[in-house]
Amino acid sequence: MKQLSTLREMERFITPLTENGTSIGFVPTMGALHEGHLSLIRRAKAENQLTLCSVFVNPIQFNNPEDLAKYPRTLSTDAKMLEKVGCDVLFSPGAEELYPQGTTESLELDWGMLDKVMEGKFRPGHFKGVAIVVKKLFSITHPTRAYFGKKDYQQLAVIRRMVEQLRLPVTIIPCDTVREPDGLAMSSRNLRLTIAERQVAPVIYEVLCQVREKAGKIPVKDLREWAIRKIQEHPSIRVEYFEIGDKETLIPLENWSLKSRAVAFIAAFLGDVRLIDNLELF
Ligand code: PAJ
Repeated sequence: MKQLSTLREMERFITPLTENGTSIGFVPTMGALHEGHLSLIRRAKAENQLTLCSVFVNPIQFNNPEDLAKYPRTLSTDAKMLEKVGCDVLFSPGAEELYPQGTTESLELDWGMLDKVMEGKFRPGHFKGVAIVVKKLFSITHPTRAYFGKKDYQQLAVIRRMVEQLRLPVTIIPCDTVREPDGLAMSSRNLRLTIAERQVAPVIYEVLCQVREKAGKIPVKDLREWAIRKIQEHPSIRVEYFEIGDKETLIPLENWSLKSRAVAFIAAFLGDVRLIDNLELF
């Protein structure tokens, strides 16, 4: 596996490949890789001639400086994992490479409600930071296809909206959420749970599945209230939001008239660890 860390090296490597029409599958990450990330790499590998993964902890998408400082940085282990699944290129630029003028950039797009509900509401500025870095990474790596997990459903919707509005020449491929055997969605944050919290955490997915069972049978508002109550039966969990929203606009549904588009979304705290998950309901 090739490892590149500067824009110059990347440009020199990628230009001949784009010129000869090599298909490039790109998986952007922030490292601390787990099976969820690796499933994206495997998919990219199956569908493209070259697979490229970036590892960059993007400072401008963290609204909490403590969260940024605490983010695990495990580049040498990440490289070994990528090598093992047959990734061709690892791109791990430093912040000075991506933000030579400091982090003052902006990107004005029509996000609709995408950056105002759920993650957008509780993490102001987060998606703008994500969109800026992903746009930059696309312009450096020239992917044919880029792979994003449905685990971060709202992020996927934001990226799709950006690609559509800027007419970027890349196909966005959504990938299913990879879960632990007990249903907990894989996340680098799971490692920060205490043993007791880790035992309680699967309730998030259990309740999402029960919500899917009940969807369409009782009013949206009642189902939402039921889900929040059910999860908070566990005193160690605090629900930040639980919403049933449209799969593209993410706008909360008021009834089941467009039920085929319904997705349930949750963010919850276990101690100071914030977990998110979601499930397509139909
Ligand atoms: P990161 O959290 O490292 O995630 C990288 C990619 O892996 C995202 O597309 C995410 O949705 C996907 N992913 C994470 N856990 C997953 C799981 N359990 N199953 C399937 N896919 C999973 O998301 C980011 O980084 C950043 O915001 C980034 C897009 C790289 C921009 O900085």
